[in-house]
Amino acid sequence: MPSETKVYYPNPNFSKNAYINSFSQYREMYLQSLDNPEAFWGEIIKQFHWETPVEYDNFFRYNFDIRKGPIYTKWFDGATTNICYNVLDRIVQRGYGDKVAYYWEGNHPDDYSRLTYRKLLEEVCKFSNVLKSKGIKKGDRVAVYMPMILEAVITLLACTRIGAVHSVVFAGFSADSFAERVIDCGAEIIVTADGVWRGPKFLGLKSICDQVMDKCARRNHNIRHCIVVAHLKRVTSPDNSQKSNKVHMKEGRDIWWNDAVADSSITCPPVWTNSEDPLFMLYTSGSTGKPKGVLHTVGGYMVYTAATFKCVFDYKSKDVYWCTADIGWITGHSYGVYGPLANAATCVLFEGTPFYPDNDRFWTVIEKYKVNQFYTAPTAIRALMKYGDDLVRRHDVSSLKVIGSVGEPINSEAWLWYYKVVGGEKCSVVDTFWQTETGGHVLTPLPGATPMKPGSATFPFFGVQPALLDESGKEIEGEGEGYLVFKRPWPGIMRSLFGNHERYEATYFSKFPGYYCTGDGARRDADGYFWITGRIDDMLNVSGHLMSTAEVESLLTEHKAIAEAAVVSKPHPIKGECLYCFVITSNETHFDDNIKKELSLLIRERIGAFATPDVIHNTPSLPKTRSGKIMRRILRKVAVNDRNLGDVSTLADSTVIETLFASRPVCS
Ligand code: PRX
Repeated sequence: MPSETKVYYPNPNFSKNAYINSFSQYREMYLQSLDNPEAFWGEIIKQFHWETPVEYDNFFRYNFDIRKGPIYTKWFDGATTNICYNVLDRIVQRGYGDKVAYYWEGNHPDDYSRLTYRKLLEEVCKFSNVLKSKGIKKGDRVAVYMPMILEAVITLLACTRIGAVHSVVFAGFSADSFAERVIDCGAEIIVTADGVWRGPKFLGLKSICDQVMDKCARRNHNIRHCIVVAHLKRVTSPDNSQKSNKVHMKEGRDIWWNDAVADSSITCPPVWTNSEDPLFMLYTSGSTGKPKGVLHTVGGYMVYTAATFKCVFDYKSKDVYWCTADIGWITGHSYGVYGPLANAATCVLFEGTPFYPDNDRFWTVIEKYKVNQFYTAPTAIRALMKYGDDLVRRHDVSSLKVIGSVGEPINSEAWLWYYKVVGGEKCSVVDTFWQTETGGHVLTPLPGATPMKPGSATFPFFGVQPALLDESGKEIEGEGEGYLVFKRPWPGIMRSLFGNHERYEATYFSKFPGYYCTGDGARRDADGYFWITGRIDDMLNVSGHLMSTAEVESLLTEHKAIAEAAVVSKPHPIKGECLYCFVITSNETHFDDNIKKELSLLIRERIGAFATPDVIHNTPSLPKTRSGKIMRRILRKVAVNDRNLGDVSTLADSTVIETLFASRPVCS
């Protein structure tokens, strides 16, 4: 039976107590959210503290139609609030001061700690005061390059408490990528740690930051302060080394976190920010190769992440919730920090990898903390599936109620394994589709309400109005496949690209005036379920990490031996997609294993290890149209050794096809 015809219903015992307990309730609320957004969101915003209340005349305004003027979205404009106050002070005032906000689980199982809401608030205030003492004020950007440690959460919240804008860069990005982002966002301060162990691997974060600060200085961008958490001395290293001794601290610029906070007060008044003031920025890959600084604002993001977290995970006050995403990605922001804390959730913050010290680490952690909601990525599920059911069954994971997936399409085989083996056929799987740009879930099942189909992100969240468009921009009604777009804004949607509103309009709103264009394709089946079919632009999704073909191609051609390069994605059993690179060498250069290694290294060093190509294919020519455009469609076929090429009549030189197939590397 094709997977999509089989429907899996929420466990009735779970549905009984769920916030949204039937599909008809979802439908009713969904229609209300579209018919009367003021009434729908007006109810939800009441739980938050607004220093200056939301005016109903100014509830939300937007323009998605470039023909009518500049694109903008504003929610609750004019109202003032503070997100840190709402996720900490408000929670403590409601009597949750002694509740655990985070269980921190280190890379090594012997390392763990916890932080209550009250203590978290104190630590945040201390660090806000440090930032203030370094001259950081409302609107200033703070660059963050940190492992999954409590100080990372503290840093984010400390920024927002004083209205500073955090710009987190995933601590797996190279010095080059980090420097480019620091310069683009104009940060003059970096918060980092001396280093971190991820599984058996060591990452010297501070020494990477040293390179970044040098690179910035060479481009006349001075980093005035670098605050460093001394993390290594408090954790168990896999090889008992003393790596922490090797950190270099530059006088007057670099300071240890503990020294900085030592005399800091545990109180700090929040700075009231307009709902539409910048909250944070986060870079995502752009199809031209230059990263885009996605900008989110305070009020809408706060309300939206809180509402989606509560409904999609059905979080109840005694639950323990675990999102495995790194804080360097949007999932770590929205569902590792803001959404859960706004709901007074108890979260697990995990520093390590699923494979260390053994391949059952995830199941060990779920058992240890009795995790109720677990949120991870398909790439992890597929990797763990490989180790068999037994590793899961050896652990008591019966505490689980809701299991989530995010970042890339989940194939039905992985979905079924997750549902059956991890969820014990009693947990709803929430396959959440969203993007850095959307701020929170936009297509997702609700665990007590939505009948699930393996591999489908199902239906829109409240307030979200999707549509499928054909190439001419016409809406496809009913069953069909096309460009996935949204017709109106929900509170959590991005507001701009930092410092480049034109690029924002051009990237998301110009192809189909009147719609926000996701860049993904989707199909709607006869029952109205949405199925994401993948990116329709030149973006790759490797293990849930988005990157552009253009950025990899331009790096490859920086190598002196390479004249031209074209990169496509190839399906991969665990990563989802992997990089398949075609390269043409410059005149006279003989392609060999050394060049291949250098190219791989170049990408690792300049982008990050996660971008390492799986295949580098040396070819004498690339398939091009008469106007010189590379036909990637053909390259994707070559990558999977599929000779069903379809129409090739637009090719300038058809002999190139045979050459391409003949030159495929043996083990690709
Ligand atoms: O292609 C879609 C894919 O990931 C892209 C967004 O990537 P990013 O901004 O890095 O955010 C990832 C975490 C929210 C989307 O355009 N994607 C994300 N979730 C899903 C997905 N594809 C299919 N199914 C999903 N559930």
